[in-house]
Amino acid sequence: MGERPGIVLWTAEELQRKYDDLARWYDLGEALPELLLLRRLRRHLVRKARGAVLEVAAGTGKNLPHYPPGCSLTLVDLSPRMLAIAQRRARRLGRAVTCRVMDAQALEFPDGRFDTVVSTLSTCTFPDPVAALREMGRVCREDGRILLLEHGRSNRSWLARWQDRTAPGHARRIGCHWNRDPLELVRRSGLRAVQARRLALGMVYVIEARRAHAADP
Ligand SMILES: C[S@@+](CC[C@H](N)C(=O)[O-])C[C@H]1O[C@@H](n2cnc3c(N)ncnc32)[C@H](O)[C@@H]1O
Repeated sequence: MGERPGIVLWTAEELQRKYDDLARWYDLGEALPELLLLRRLRRHLVRKARGAVLEVAAGTGKNLPHYPPGCSLTLVDLSPRMLAIAQRRARRLGRAVTCRVMDAQALEFPDGRFDTVVSTLSTCTFPDPVAALREMGRVCREDGRILLLEHGRSNRSWLARWQDRTAPGHARRIGCHWNRDPLELVRRSGLRAVQARRLALGMVYVIEARRAHAADP
């Protein structure tokens, strides 16, 4: 499944500018969905992280409170201003983190460097989400975990049709592709979903993936 016709893809520079501009309002803008659902899902997902952890497109660091204490954390994002907020949050929480401005589609880490790779609410934004997921698989240890919390195309046909109809305008306005199918993207990137749950009318996906040839958990 390729990108649907009429969809405009933002460049990395445009996304960086957008999130730099948005950074100080981001947490406020997301407060309601966080309160209703996302914070609970983040907590359940991220507590599975172990060892050396890479969080890709970490934004303002909303997952930071939920990591188990023994993890060593590296956060990357395109937006320096989003990362600056994440760094402040880490300081408040007393957590040591390494933050680096980096494109998810070209991670500057060697193969198999991390035990766990986490990414949340990001595949909707990446210009090439399959390339980004492939990179997450590459830098993850062969038997490591890739933990994803995403939103995407509903499995209710009436809602999916509406998402398809409105997706080009939405993507043009805010660079978010809300009718992508994260499970399909995982499959196309060569990863294997070993657990997947869908909530909120099938629009929210919680996925644990592994490299395709890794043994089952
Ligand atoms: C919707 S926000 C999600 C932030 C955070 N993961 C969360 O759960 O709140 C999307 C984030 O992806 C980042 N981003 C978009 N494209 C990226 C790319 N190619 N590489 C790295 N980060 C990217 C943006 O800067 C932004 O911080």
